[in-house]
Amino acid sequence: MKVIESPQEMQNWSRAQSRAGFRIGLVPTMGYLHEGHLSLVRRAQELCDLVVVSIFVNPIQFGEGEDYDRYPRDLSRDLDLLRKEGVGAVFAPAVRAMYPEREQTIVEPPTGMENRLCGRNRPGHFRGVTTVVSKLFNICLPDVAVFGQKDAQQALIIEKMVRDLNFPVQIVRGEIVREPDGLAMSSRNVYLSPEDRKDATVLYRSLLMARELINQGVRETSQVKKAMFDMINQVSSAQIDYIEIYNAMDLSEIQEIKGQVLLALAVRFGSTRLIDNLLLEV
Ligand code: PAJ
Repeated sequence: MKVIESPQEMQNWSRAQSRAGFRIGLVPTMGYLHEGHLSLVRRAQELCDLVVVSIFVNPIQFGEGEDYDRYPRDLSRDLDLLRKEGVGAVFAPAVRAMYPEREQTIVEPPTGMENRLCGRNRPGHFRGVTTVVSKLFNICLPDVAVFGQKDAQQALIIEKMVRDLNFPVQIVRGEIVREPDGLAMSSRNVYLSPEDRKDATVLYRSLLMARELINQGVRETSQVKKAMFDMINQVSSAQIDYIEIYNAMDLSEIQEIKGQVLLALAVRFGSTRLIDNLLLEV
């Protein structure tokens, strides 16, 4: 497994592999890898000849007061995990290699999509994501890039960016990988105290309860959202950031649950913010 720090070297490596006829799959990550990330790696391996995993905690997608400094990092553990997966190359650049100049060209996320859900309370987050992902596409030159459904809004925004800016890359989504008790895996789960870790299962429980209501025939988004609010509010450590039900194609608001819908929520436990979602076809 090649470990590459320089964007130039990464580009040269990928170009050489493409010329040799290999299809390249990219899995962008911020490291501190878990089974969710590894499931994306395996998905990329099914679709491609060679997989590149990028590990980069991207400072420009963190807001003021967010967890950039304390975001968990363990490169040598990540490299061990990826070696076992048979990954072709890991791109792990330093911040100054990705952002060498004071001024940086920014790729703006599609209007309309970035102010909802996670964009509302994390201003500037998605432009940090679209900018770094554009850079990663240009550096790693993938044929396919795999993103997790865990970050549903991120996946939608990247898919639209790729269409709008004609990036020659196919975007594939990987399913959410969960802990045995239903909590969606996340690098941020390590922040949780043992009590909050137990309480955090309420995110997925509320999504399952919502699905049950919808299966029973409830179609009003307000009614389903209220039931979710009530359930999560019973957990005193949980502070709801948002609970939304949107059209899953374009994140437009809906009153009636019909077609492809996305149930999405963000909840804080102390200073740890967790997200989860469920995609339903009604
Ligand atoms: P990170 O949070 O490290 O996630 C990397 C990828 O793993 C994302 O596509 C995310 O959706 C996926 N992922 C995270 N938890 C998952 C789970 N439980 N099951 C399945 N997939 C999961 O998302 C980012 O990094 C960054 O924003 C990035 C795209 C790398 C840009 O900096």
